[in-house]
Amino acid sequence: MMDPQQDLNQPVVLITGCSQGGIGHSMARAFAAKNCAVFATSRSRSTMADLEHDSRFFLHELDVKSDDSVRRALDAVISRFGRVDILVNNAGVQCVGPLPEVPLSAIQSTYETNVFGSLRMVQAVVPHMANRKQGKIVNIGSVTAMASGPWSGAYTSSKAALHSLTDTLRLELSNFGIDVVNIVPGAIKSNIGNSAIATYNCMPEWKLFKPFEAAIQDRAYFSQRTKSTPTDEFAKHTVDAILKKKPPAWFSYGHYSTAMAIMYHLPLCVRDFILKKAMKC
Ligand SMILES: NC(=O)c1ccc[n+]([C@@H]2O[C@H](COP(=O)([O-])OP(=O)(O)OC[C@H]3O[C@@H](n4cnc5c(N)ncnc54)[C@H](OP(=O)(O)O)[C@@H]3O)[C@@H](O)[C@H]2O)c1
Repeated sequence: MMDPQQDLNQPVVLITGCSQGGIGHSMARAFAAKNCAVFATSRSRSTMADLEHDSRFFLHELDVKSDDSVRRALDAVISRFGRVDILVNNAGVQCVGPLPEVPLSAIQSTYETNVFGSLRMVQAVVPHMANRKQGKIVNIGSVTAMASGPWSGAYTSSKAALHSLTDTLRLELSNFGIDVVNIVPGAIKSNIGNSAIATYNCMPEWKLFKPFEAAIQDRAYFSQRTKSTPTDEFAKHTVDAILKKKPPAWFSYGHYSTAMAIMYHLPLCVRDFILKKAMKC
């Protein structure tokens, strides 16, 4: 049933991965502060419990790996609001380990969430946006994709793939009035390090790479050091950029975002030298 109180000028935002403490949760609150109706989703409602009794939020479970789950969430948002104005593909997982030994199943699982999960959402939402000839699709990439380093090849390459998909979608969807935005966070405070270590603890013992164990584990928390950008600060600047009438195609913000932009342009031998030192490889 569509909400009769719904203001037709109020943007309807669907965000994936809104667990408390992460970027999606902060973005949900930043969109709500800008008078958006926020359809906040996560794998379990319990991770968004603090938003439960705030009428600006509509909560729903959504696992981006599941066709059924995506369809159920889309049905719910369309029956409630009749539209999605902004989709934010935020759900993502980190995967830490040396590429020659990380189980392929762990790499596949990373891609299932970060790449195919985002694309599954895009394919579900685009028909609704194209029908109305308007909408914004926002993919959350990562600065790590600008200079691939050791110990996080599965994650970094999945984000590089997402950047590439985003560029293609921007061109293909421009004919349908849909803006496509690549958000490229630097190091932002969140639960990503703890989640990565939980996955890491299920991996087999390294063979060739056993001597690098400590450096590999450190990689999980590389974005979670004292200088990392506070989540709410990142969310506020990012939401301001997304809500512009003509949003930027690329928006990068946060600790390391400038350093990684410079790294991208360095000769490979210099970049390799820096990354080997920084990651104790
Ligand atoms: N933090 C950084 O420094 C940083 C830097 C660059 C890019 N990013 C990107 O920013 C995005 C948000 O990450 P974060 O840093 O906020 O990490 P986070 O706190 O771990 O949040 C990740 C969110 O994704 C959800 N998620 C994982 N698998 C999912 C699935 N199959 N379906 C639906 N939701 C799923 C998690 O749900 P659960 O709570 O159920 O696990 C959680 O809500 C990710 O795409 C990440 O790659 C983060």
